[in-house]
Amino acid sequence: MTNSDTQFPFVWMNGKVIDQSDATLHIASAAILYGLSVYTVFPICSTKDGLVGFRLSDHFDRLMESTRIVGIDSHTDSWSFDSFVNSTVDLMKSNKVHSDVFVRATIHAISKMPGTRTSGLESVLSMFVYSAKSILPESGARLKTTYWRRVPDISIPARAKVNGAYVNSALGKQDAIDSGYDDCVFLDSAGHVCELSAANIFIVRNGKLITPDSTSDLLEGINRKTIIEYARNIGLDVQERTVDLTELYIADEIFACGTSAYITPVIEVDARTIGNGKQGAITKKLAKIHIDTLHGKNKDYQKYLTLIASR
Ligand SMILES: Cc1ncc(COP(=O)(O)O)c(C=O)c1O
Repeated sequence: MTNSDTQFPFVWMNGKVIDQSDATLHIASAAILYGLSVYTVFPICSTKDGLVGFRLSDHFDRLMESTRIVGIDSHTDSWSFDSFVNSTVDLMKSNKVHSDVFVRATIHAISKMPGTRTSGLESVLSMFVYSAKSILPESGARLKTTYWRRVPDISIPARAKVNGAYVNSALGKQDAIDSGYDDCVFLDSAGHVCELSAANIFIVRNGKLITPDSTSDLLEGINRKTIIEYARNIGLDVQERTVDLTELYIADEIFACGTSAYITPVIEVDARTIGNGKQGAITKKLAKIHIDTLHGKNKDYQKYLTLIASR
């Protein structure tokens, strides 16, 4: 048992809040047999007004899109954005959450021994809470290009957040860890940059912000699109396009982004120091806007916050 288990013992499953020890999946379910679950992770942040959720409708929509891509078709009709928000509210209340947390919401295909298929299966939603902590070192991440390639859209679409596809992420991340790095850079089969194991990537070159476009075998990150909006609003030129690996080596700045990575500077790639080996000025500016946004200190982006529990 980890600290977060004991700190937040209640989870959402089968339409209600239950103790985590009662939240189980059958070993013969499609979720366990084939990794047939889709999920999202979203932040709940503490603000002066209370707890807020960031871009919840985007998380809900992406979760539903993942079910659509994979073909888990039993959850779409019975479940609405309002019930998604209400279950989050119940989860915060029952766990007495007062600080920043992440919520992992997963739709599992639970039919038993269904054979290798995706549609017509029974499904269930689970949600659990854990303390918000970045998955990358805040002072700067060191990345290694992994020899594993990102799963292409025609194999397991990275655009859908499918649990089974995270074997690919785990292989890349473990390769990086085994070589003494913090995380990996995934390339596609043609050698273009996709993303990290669980975060998107941006580079800064000559004052321009560049990120692999959404057809580069990556998860269309909700933070990725938010950062593009921040950048354009402060007058930065943003390019979404194919990115070569060698562009990383000569970038002025690189950062990773995502719910669990926030905005983390990348200070080294494949034994090459990026910029001066510290957080760059543009990364710093965007990271400050983002942290302020999450904590309700940014009027311009208040539109992305949903009040979950008032103070
Ligand atoms: C593979 C991958 N890419 C990117 C992201 C970032 O997505 P988001 O900004 O929606 O958290 C994640 C988040 O978990 C991820 O797993």
